[in-house]
Amino acid sequence: MKFTTLDERFETRFKTLYQNLYKLHPQIDSDEFNLRYLRVDWFFPQHIHNVLNQVEELSKIYFQNTDLEVALCAGLLHDAGLVYQRETASPLGHEERSVEYARNELAPLGYSKEFIEKVCECIKATEPAYTPKLPEALLVRNADAYAHMISMHFFAKSNFSQDINSFVNWFENKLESTYTKITIPELRHELSPIVTFYKKMISNYKTQKMNPSLTF
Ligand SMILES: [Fe+2]
Repeated sequence: MKFTTLDERFETRFKTLYQNLYKLHPQIDSDEFNLRYLRVDWFFPQHIHNVLNQVEELSKIYFQNTDLEVALCAGLLHDAGLVYQRETASPLGHEERSVEYARNELAPLGYSKEFIEKVCECIKATEPAYTPKLPEALLVRNADAYAHMISMHFFAKSNFSQDINSFVNWFENKLESTYTKITIPELRHELSPIVTFYKKMISNYKTQKMNPSLTF
């Protein structure tokens, strides 16, 4: 992954952030079922790299006057709380833990207080109920959600779920909250047909589940 628009100093610090986060995640040889989704061989290429690519791509088209370094650091660290100090199976509150992790990681690298607070603001904006206050935050929120929509995320979660019913309930909620986070009209327009179709699939599943037997 190469960020052509940013300088060498950025690359050096970003590499350190990346490597530390990578070490935090379950490694390839980890076979704990609950953490399989967060293993480095899935989570980095299939989510984190997609988010970083989208931060860069969307910034070129829709957010040209934003601080790309802030947005990329937030894109990298926004889900750290899924692993950092996680004590339960539920991912609830992971944005807050990601903020704490980001503060701990960015300060020793010499980033200013103002920079760190901006990154934290972007991370908070990945939470569905949060209203982004910075253009960088809106960029990261869109990039995170769009990355989910264009990746295998929803199908992968099915594979990592214990049972189909809890997966479909999760999918229904996640689809809605993910699509809501996308505010760029062109992206909403592009995704609208697939969202409609996914909803049709969910509705079909529920109908068939309610009527499992044929009656003659
Ligand atoms: Fe994410």
